[in-house]
Amino acid sequence: MPPLYIFIVSLLCSLNTLPWSAADDTLATGQVLTADDKLVSRNGKFALGFFQPDNGISKASNTTITSPGRYLGIWFNKIPVFTTVWVANRERPITIPELKQTHLRISGDGNLVIINHATESVIWSTHIVNRTETSINTSVVLLNTGNLVVQGSSGVPLWQSFDYPADVVIPGAKFGWNKVTGLNRQVISKKSLIDPGLGSYSVELNGTRGVILMRRDPPKVYWSGLTSPTLIPELRSLLDMDPRTRGLIIPAYVDNGEEEYYIYTSSDESASSFLSLDMSGQIKLNVWSQAKQSWQLIYAQPADPCNPFATCGPFTICNGSSNPICDCMESFSQKSPLDWELGDRTGGCTRNTPLDCALSSNSNTTSSTDMFHSIAHVTIPYNPQTIQDANAQSKCEQACVSVCSCTAYSYQNGICSVWHGDLFSVNLNDGIENHSEDVLYLRLAAKDLQGLRKNKRKPIVTVVTTVSITTLVLLMLMVLVMIWRNRFRWCGAPLHGSDGNGGIIAFRYADLAHATKNFSEKLGSGGFGSVFKGVLNDSFPVAVKRLDGARQGEKQFRAEVSSVGIIQHINLVKLIGFCCEGDKRLLVYEHMLNGSLDAHLFESNASALNWRDRYQIVLGVARGLSYLHESCRECIIHCDIKPENILLDASFAPKIADFGMAVFVGRDFSRVLTTFRGTAGYLAPEWISGVAITPKVDVYSFGMVLLEIISGRRNSPEERTSGKNHVAYFPVRAISKLHEGDLMSLVDPRLHGDFELEEAERICKVACWCIQENEFDRPAMGVVVRVLEGLHELDMPPMPRLLAAITKCSDVPST
Ligand SMILES: *[C@@H]1O[C@H](CO)[C@@H](O)[C@H](O)[C@H]1NC(C)=O
Ligand SMILES: *[C@@H]1O[C@H](CO)[C@@H](O)[C@H](O)[C@H]1NC(C)=O
Ligand SMILES: *[C@@H]1O[C@H](CO)[C@@H](O)[C@H](O)[C@H]1NC(C)=O
Ligand SMILES: *[C@@H]1O[C@H](CO)[C@@H](O)[C@H](O)[C@H]1NC(C)=O
Ligand SMILES: *[C@@H]1O[C@H](CO)[C@@H](O)[C@H](O)[C@H]1NC(C)=O
Ligand SMILES: *[C@@H]1O[C@H](CO)[C@@H](O)[C@H](O)[C@H]1NC(C)=O
Ligand SMILES: *[C@@H]1O[C@H](CO)[C@@H](O)[C@H](O)[C@H]1NC(C)=O
Repeated sequence: MPPLYIFIVSLLCSLNTLPWSAADDTLATGQVLTADDKLVSRNGKFALGFFQPDNGISKASNTTITSPGRYLGIWFNKIPVFTTVWVANRERPITIPELKQTHLRISGDGNLVIINHATESVIWSTHIVNRTETSINTSVVLLNTGNLVVQGSSGVPLWQSFDYPADVVIPGAKFGWNKVTGLNRQVISKKSLIDPGLGSYSVELNGTRGVILMRRDPPKVYWSGLTSPTLIPELRSLLDMDPRTRGLIIPAYVDNGEEEYYIYTSSDESASSFLSLDMSGQIKLNVWSQAKQSWQLIYAQPADPCNPFATCGPFTICNGSSNPICDCMESFSQKSPLDWELGDRTGGCTRNTPLDCALSSNSNTTSSTDMFHSIAHVTIPYNPQTIQDANAQSKCEQACVSVCSCTAYSYQNGICSVWHGDLFSVNLNDGIENHSEDVLYLRLAAKDLQGLRKNKRKPIVTVVTTVSITTLVLLMLMVLVMIWRNRFRWCGAPLHGSDGNGGIIAFRYADLAHATKNFSEKLGSGGFGSVFKGVLNDSFPVAVKRLDGARQGEKQFRAEVSSVGIIQHINLVKLIGFCCEGDKRLLVYEHMLNGSLDAHLFESNASALNWRDRYQIVLGVARGLSYLHESCRECIIHCDIKPENILLDASFAPKIADFGMAVFVGRDFSRVLTTFRGTAGYLAPEWISGVAITPKVDVYSFGMVLLEIISGRRNSPEERTSGKNHVAYFPVRAISKLHEGDLMSLVDPRLHGDFELEEAERICKVACWCIQENEFDRPAMGVVVRVLEGLHELDMPPMPRLLAAITKCSDVPST
C-alpha cells in the first residue's frame, strides 16, 4: 500500500493533545488514514481524524471519564478545548482492540469507508447517491469551512459532510432541505459527553411548520420557529445587540425552487463559532473567545432550559432558575448519577421504595398502603388521562389508588387527571416562561411518606456510587456550567460589555437604584412602567424606565433592547443600557431636558411652542422615521407614533422614543402580520381590518401628529362645539380648509399669526396625504422629508372617503 504523504504541520497545531503526526487536506484513492493520522484543512482550522471522546476534565485531576469507543470526526484544530463539529460513525464506535486494524480509505465504488482491513468488514460508509459521474478517481478533501467533501476526478462533489450533520451546524453549512432530492438535514443531539450517538432531541426544517425542535422518543414537538420571514430579523437584531457577535455572525434564510434552508456565515474567517443542539434539548450558539480561551454562549432556544420536553427524564422536577435545573421527585434517586454527570438524564430517577401495590402479587388494591405527596406550583406531566366521573378530589385519588400502574393524579377545576408509568416534564414555576400553579399528587410507598413527614423536608440521601472526590469535582464543574449557561440566557449580556461607542451597557440594579436616588424623581409613567430621572457618575443625566407587569414587560423589554440597541440616529432616542436582574427590567436612556411633545402642545399652562421649533420638530421626526423605515439594515416599524413618544432635547430637537411596540420587517418582505398595537387616534385603518401591515402605519400616525402640531390641540373628536351638532374632528376640517386655502383658521391661535404660511401649507398637505385611507396613497417617509425640505412638491390631497362621510353628516347644520 502506498504511504501517506506526510507534511509537517506542527506550526499549525501546536496545541495538539493527541499524537497525530501528519497532515494534508486530501486523501486520494489508494491512500489510507490510520487511527494516528489526520487530515487538516488548508487554513489549519479544522482537522479530521479518529478521536476518543471524554468529559473534558483535566487529566491531571484523575477524573477524566473517557468513551470506550473511538469515532471518526472533524474538530476545531486550533482550539485547545476539544470540540467536534461532525462525527461519522455516531452509532458504531470502533472498539479499542479493533483500532489497530481500522483505517479510512476510498473503496472501489468511490465511497469513503471506515474499514477493518483485517476482516474487510465495513464499519461506516458514505452512500453516494449521484452516480452519474464515474467514480474511479475520487478523492476526499477537508475544506477550509470544515466541510469534508468526496469529489470525482473533475472536482464535482459527490458527497459532503455538511449534508449529514451530527449535532452541530457551523458557518457555511445549510440547515434545511433540498426539494429536488428530498435530502433533509436533520440535526440530532448526542447521547452524552462521551457518547456522540443519536440522543433524545432533533431539530429540522419542516415545511410550513418552520424550524421544529422535538423529542425523539416519545415523539413530541416542543418548540417551533416563528414563521420564516420574522425569524431571521429577530435573530439578527439579537446578534447585533451582543458585542461578541455584532457584525460577526450573519444569519440568512433561502427559499427557492430547489431548496429551503437557513445558513449563517461568519464575517471573520479566523473566528470560530458553532450552533449545536445539546443533550438537554436546547439550541445553543457558541462563539470562541480568544481572550477567555473558552466558548461563550450567545443564544439559547428555548430560553427556559426546562422547556425541552422531558429534559430531566422521568420522575424529576425541573426548576429553570436553580443550579442544577434537574432534581429528583421526593423519595426518588438518580437512576445513574454517572450518566447525569455526563449529561445523559434519559434514565431520570427511580423510587427508593417500591409501591406496596406492585409488591402484592394479587394486586388487591383495597389493601394498598400507598399514599400521596403533593407537589405545588408545577406544570402537570405529559400525557394525562382524564377520569370522567370523578367529581371530587377523594374520588380522583381513589381512581388512582385503584389502578396499580397509576403513579400520580391531579384534581383541578373539577377535572381529574391520572398518570400511568413515567412522569415527564414536571416543571416548577420558575418565572422564565411557564407560570403554572397546578398541584400534582405523587403516589409513594407509605414508608417513604412517613419518613418524609418525620424529618420534614430533609432530602433523601442519594446513593453515591462513584468515588466521593470525583463526584465533588464533577458536581462543581456542572454547577459552573450551569452558572455559565444562566449568565448567557437572554438577559445575560456581560456587565459593562460595551465595546466602543455603539455598545449598550448592562447595568447592575444597585447602580441604577443609586443613580435614581432609589427611584425618587418620577418623570412620567405609561402603560408599561414608570420613568425616573437619574444621574450616572454624578454628572451624566439619564432617564431610567422601570417596566412592570411580568410578561408584557418582558416582551416590551426585549423589543426595545433589540431595536434601539442597533439603531442610531440624531432623531431617535439613544438607549444607553439596560438592567436585567431577577424580575427587574430597566432601560436607561439619555435624558431629554424638555420632556415629551404632548406636554408642550396640549398643556394649557405650557408656553406655546414657536413656529420655528414646530417646523424643526416636524422635520426631525420625519427624518427619524425615514431612517427607521429605509436606512436601517432591517426596516423597523415603530407602531406607536404619538406626541407622548416624541421627546425634546434642550434645544427642542425631537427624538423618537419608546420602541416597545416596534416590529422588524426583513428587507425582502415588505409586510408583517402582527398583533394589534398602537394608540387609538393614531391608528391606521388597515390595523383594524387585521391585514399585514407596512411602514405606512407609521406614516398615518405621523400625519395625525402633524395636524396636532399645527393646531396645538388633540385631533380627538370628543370636543363638540357646544350647542351645535358639529363634530369638530380636526383632520376633516384641515382638509376642507386646505382646499379652501384658509390656513389661518387651522394654525394654533396661541401663535397669534406668527408663522410661515408656506411652511404651514406644506405641513398641512403632507399631513393630509399621510392620513389617506389607502396606504398606497400615503407617501413614504423619504418623500415626506424631501417635501418638508422644499425639494419636492405635492398635489392637493383628496378628501378620504371615510372622513368625507363624517363631514357630510356632521356638517349639515354648520354654516
Ligand atoms: C492520578 O492517578 C495516578 C495513578 O492512579 C497517580 O500515579 C497520580 O499521582 C494521580 N494524579 C493525581 C493528580 O492525583
Ligand atoms: C449529479 O452529478 C451531475 C454531474 O456529475 C450533476 O450535473 C447533477 O446535477 C447531479 N445530480 C444531483 C441530483 O445532484
Ligand atoms: C486522478 O486524479 C489525480 C488528480 O486529481 C490525477 O493526478 C491522476 O492522474 C488521476 N488518475 C486517473 C487514473 O485518472
Ligand atoms: C415534516 O414532518 C412530518 C411529520 O413529522 C414528516 O412526515 C415530513 O417528512 C416532514 N417534512 C420535512 C420536509 O421534513
Ligand atoms: C427555583 O430555584 C430558585 C433558585 O434556587 C429558587 O429561588 C426558587 O424558589 C425555585 N422555584 C420554586 C418554585 O421552588
Ligand atoms: C381484596 O381483598 C378483600 C379482602 O381482603 C376482598 O374482599 C376483595 O374481594 C379482594 N379484591 C380483589 C380484586 O382481589
Ligand atoms: C411552557 O411555556 C412554553 C412557552 O410559553 C410553551 O410553549 C410550553 O408549552 C409550556 N410548557 C408547559 C408544560 O406548559
